[in-house]
Amino acid sequence: MTKTAMLPARLVILISGNGSNLQAIIDHIESGELNAEISMVISDKKNACGITRAREQSIAAQIVEPETGETREQYDHRLVEIIDDAGCDYIILAGFMRILSDMFVNRYKGYLLNIHPSLLPGYKGLNTHQRVLDAGEKIHGASVHFVTPDLDSGPVIMQAIIDILPHDTPETLADRVLEREHSLYSRVLSMCINSEVKLSNDDIIVDGQKINKPLILESE
Ligand code: GRF
Repeated sequence: MTKTAMLPARLVILISGNGSNLQAIIDHIESGELNAEISMVISDKKNACGITRAREQSIAAQIVEPETGETREQYDHRLVEIIDDAGCDYIILAGFMRILSDMFVNRYKGYLLNIHPSLLPGYKGLNTHQRVLDAGEKIHGASVHFVTPDLDSGPVIMQAIIDILPHDTPETLADRVLEREHSLYSRVLSMCINSEVKLSNDDIIVDGQKINKPLILESE
């Protein structure tokens, strides 16, 4: 998992669905804002729109569906083979809806990123938009974090924050959070690729200094 300076970082992007975060990363690469190339897009679902997006843009894409009776580790070993063959500096989880084994997470620790639609550590898991509304929260957002074996619990690098408006529904919140995710993920990726951010033990180091709370994405 090492990268020669100046060469584009090689990304493997794991998805299960729409792939709008994948599309945003493609767009940021094409605009020159992200010094990266996508070596492979992998989906665990055969109908994922993200696979079509990748193929339309001539990016290698593979569907890796779980097989009957296969354990989580066996599935993840198949992923490891594909990822290592493709060549990879960072693995980007972008709406990948499977829980990964400790074997997988520990193998790529420090190079495995996820985006989650809440201000972690609040609202881990699913249905975050409904849950923040039910709780009467005033703000909401998204977090990009290094992945560790505990679900949605790895050190958070950066968050994008939005205000919750009086008439928000889960759908309107989802739209506004997703829009911010698209800038957030590429911003964090760019910092990782430029060696401005790294994971050391379980600490996030930004420009050589440990941070004690997540960075906040500037408003647009
Ligand atoms: C995003 O909300 C992301 O935070 C979550 O899954 C969703 C993926 O959306 N992990 P898309 O497939 O990138 O449009």
